Amino acid sequence: MDFIRHIGKKCKGSKTISRIDIAIHRLQRGCLFFPIGYTIRSTMANRVIKIGLLGSGTVGKGVQDILFQDAQELEKRLGLRLEIEKIYTRSPQKKYWFSRLPHKFTTDPNEVIRNPVISIVIEVLGLERREETRDIANYIVDALKSGKSVVTANKAVLASYGEEIHRAAVEASRDLRFEAAVAGGIPIIRSLGEGLLPDHVNQLYGILNGTCNYILSSISDHGKTFESALKEAQRLGYAETDPTADIKGHDTRDKLVVLLQLLYGLFVKEEEVATEGIDHLEKVDFDYARQKLHSNIKLLGYVRRRDKEVVARVSPIMMKGGHILARVDGALNAILVDSQYCETMCFVGKGAGEKPTANSVVSDVISIAMGHHTQQRPIGFQFNELLEEKDENKYYIRFVVKDRPGIVSEILGYLRDNEVNVDEVLQLKHSQEEKAYFQKKFGFKGAVGEILPFILTVEPCREVSVRKAIEGIRRQDFLLTGPVVIKMLPNLPDVVTHQNVGTGL
Ligand SMILES: NC(=O)c1ccc[n+]([C@@H]2O[C@H](COP(=O)([O-])OP(=O)(O)OC[C@H]3O[C@@H](n4cnc5c(N)ncnc54)[C@H](OP(=O)(O)O)[C@@H]3O)[C@@H](O)[C@H]2O)c1
Repeated sequence: MDFIRHIGKKCKGSKTISRIDIAIHRLQRGCLFFPIGYTIRSTMANRVIKIGLLGSGTVGKGVQDILFQDAQELEKRLGLRLEIEKIYTRSPQKKYWFSRLPHKFTTDPNEVIRNPVISIVIEVLGLERREETRDIANYIVDALKSGKSVVTANKAVLASYGEEIHRAAVEASRDLRFEAAVAGGIPIIRSLGEGLLPDHVNQLYGILNGTCNYILSSISDHGKTFESALKEAQRLGYAETDPTADIKGHDTRDKLVVLLQLLYGLFVKEEEVATEGIDHLEKVDFDYARQKLHSNIKLLGYVRRRDKEVVARVSPIMMKGGHILARVDGALNAILVDSQYCETMCFVGKGAGEKPTANSVVSDVISIAMGHHTQQRPIGFQFNELLEEKDENKYYIRFVVKDRPGIVSEILGYLRDNEVNVDEVLQLKHSQEEKAYFQKKFGFKGAVGEILPFILTVEPCREVSVRKAIEGIRRQDFLLTGPVVIKMLPNLPDVVTHQNVGTGL
């Protein structure tokens, strides 16, 4: 045993260390681990892993619950003891576990980051301002430099400082895990990073923000306006008081940037990912989608690869009503993956919440403690925004106009001049109430009866052509608000067939 430990020290940082480390872990632990709870033990004492926690909010509390309440059960299953040594938070007295274990809490982050007995640091701090990501990145890098492995749930920090953080982990030969940073309780990071390691992901489409999905489902399924759906999401605690990061698509973009790091080893800046939110969508868009186009609209973060080139986008997408993503409702998350070997698969589940997110965090801790090492990042890929421009797609364009003769032919003129062919012009019967809503929202001074919403769909064409046509149309004085353009992807890869859905196609 001493001999193996000796070799282990000598080899630290080299490639062989991982296997030797695992051997040492297993010998020291004196057990073999079986995922369904069977453990073969020796009489040796179990190894103790000391953990430090940065943050004690929703996720931090969930992690404390699991590690304090389930410690014995986990020890029996794992053959090692996971022990929280210190918890950093600004206001310890307000925390649930403070009254039971006050000595575990500190208001000094260095008591976690530089604590010599701690080997794994969990970072679950919240953000009050985006600029705070720099401080949090510093905590993570310092912890890695101090020889600790790090588990973080923070997509914003990884999106902004991922390259620096990953480099620090490699240089320190420590593990960095972030299962909870994307789709909270869904084990998507491990599935993509390990489960699909030999495979090649061609496309990925994700409903990655539960707040947006809740709002869109409320509009689509319960006929709410955007404003009332947002208010309800805030009342139920799904949306922040300031919902900007969610409804503008920034949170989805952060998660997509993290997925690009994982899937293709690409460190793309957030602003390089073209991002559109949901705050320009109206109930009328969902009425047209359902009643005229048998479709639904979801905010998707998506990635497409062609050979070694990759593009990523965040935008509302119109898809067939029977598509599996179209039917993921409420605050759920979903990730549809299309890969070369496994073809199409879909992960659906809770993307947030105390317990699901804490489970992901603790599973990362266990994985590190068990000596499972992080994979090498893929190399050789390039981010190419222009890749999306090469594709031809159908588009939905919605107008709300002050009615007068000749409007449609003027619009068609702009589209024709940019080589965009119209497929259909469609109009629902709109109530006075609906028109009055637009009158109020867009401050229209004329009569309600003058307001006319309608849509058109265009045949597959390049995005740039639609964009140029819309630039011209946008200048016209008959518009109450800018046209809303939504990409239509009726042929998204799916895991359900027409037969087993039966409707909506
Ligand atoms: N909540 C979820 O369901 C969920 C899901 C997936 C990922 N995440 C990620 O997990 C992380 C934690 O989320 P959460 O929901 O647990 O956040 P939270 O409830 O707002 O908790 C935030 C924690 O961070 C501390 N904190 C906030 N601002 C700070 C600052 N400027 N300096 C020092 N400490 C600060 C708070 O300290 P005090 O309490 O002492 O003030 C609290 O302990 C975030 O990165 C989030 O994106 C959350």
